[in-house]
Amino acid sequence: MDSVVSRKTLKDTPLDSKLYLHFLRIAEEAALACAPSIGQGDRKESDRLAVEAMRRTMQSVPMDGTIVIGEGERDEAPMLFIGEQVGLGGEKIDIAVDPLEGTNLCAENLPNAITVLAAAPAKGLLHAPDLYMEKLVVGPACRGCVHLTWSVETNLQAMAKALTLSLSELQITVLDRPRHRSLIESIQQCGARVHLISDGDLSACILAALDGSGTHGVMGTGGAPEGVLAAAALKCLGGEIQGRLVTDRNTASQAAAEQMGAEFNKIYLTDDLAPGSEIIFAASGVTSGDLVQGVTIQGTTREVYSVLLTTEQTGLRYYKSTLASDGARTTVAL
Ligand code: FBP
Repeated sequence: MDSVVSRKTLKDTPLDSKLYLHFLRIAEEAALACAPSIGQGDRKESDRLAVEAMRRTMQSVPMDGTIVIGEGERDEAPMLFIGEQVGLGGEKIDIAVDPLEGTNLCAENLPNAITVLAAAPAKGLLHAPDLYMEKLVVGPACRGCVHLTWSVETNLQAMAKALTLSLSELQITVLDRPRHRSLIESIQQCGARVHLISDGDLSACILAALDGSGTHGVMGTGGAPEGVLAAAALKCLGGEIQGRLVTDRNTASQAAAEQMGAEFNKIYLTDDLAPGSEIIFAASGVTSGDLVQGVTIQGTTREVYSVLLTTEQTGLRYYKSTLASDGARTTVAL
């Protein structure tokens, strides 16, 4: 990869004053911290390592941040809980985190574990409860052509038309869960291909908006917090997510969610989930996957790869940071 990229070396200290580079650093630190736990079979420990690193790094960022999507409520999560204040002070921003998206993927050394966060000026990201969300995700070419209330067949036909593909060329990513049995059958009966994943629907949502990724859409039910993070990324990429909260993940949070204003029959659109006009989205690879390469260790040198999206600039940007044994870090845009 290195030989073909044009490189721009970023200054290490002080870090570029632009906030997005701080967010890149936060995602990187979380990935580096949980990387030693890859394949160790302890998903909670992997998550803990990522959460602690994310929080520690956030505390050095010049911002007045509020966690709006985090590890849970104050009582159940020791840190990065919803409502927690982070940063050194500065601009008021809302932050959504998934310190380790795909805890099982990391613990079992499977592809696509990533560390993720998104930020927007205050009120720019929905305070989504930790419930399930039924999702329909498409890339820019299919934006406005599909609807969550339509049948699978109608949506697939609309996508095929917008992409000028035959139904048999369409690939839809679905979480491999018993609850999706009839959805999977419906997609296959239409002649489209199903790509089953064991975890990590957030990466899949981003891939659906990238030309040439092989994935044209995501269907099915996953976490609502991942839905908001996906919306932040899709807004930057010009894709679309439609989501509907589902009531069976956690009854206690369902009641709390209703009190917070969550609506269970509403179809949430990309702009409902991520209404902010300015958004930053950063993710770093823990295990290598379709979106981004995982952490590599070569002797005493560690490398971490990331993707960055902003509403300010079109397209996905890739970065690689190399950390030497003395702690020196070099970050290059790939
Ligand atoms: P975690 O990283 O919290 O384990 O989430 C992984 C994930 O696969 C998400 O990508 C997805 O949205 C959600 O879990 C699906 O939930 P469930 O495993 O309960 O079906």
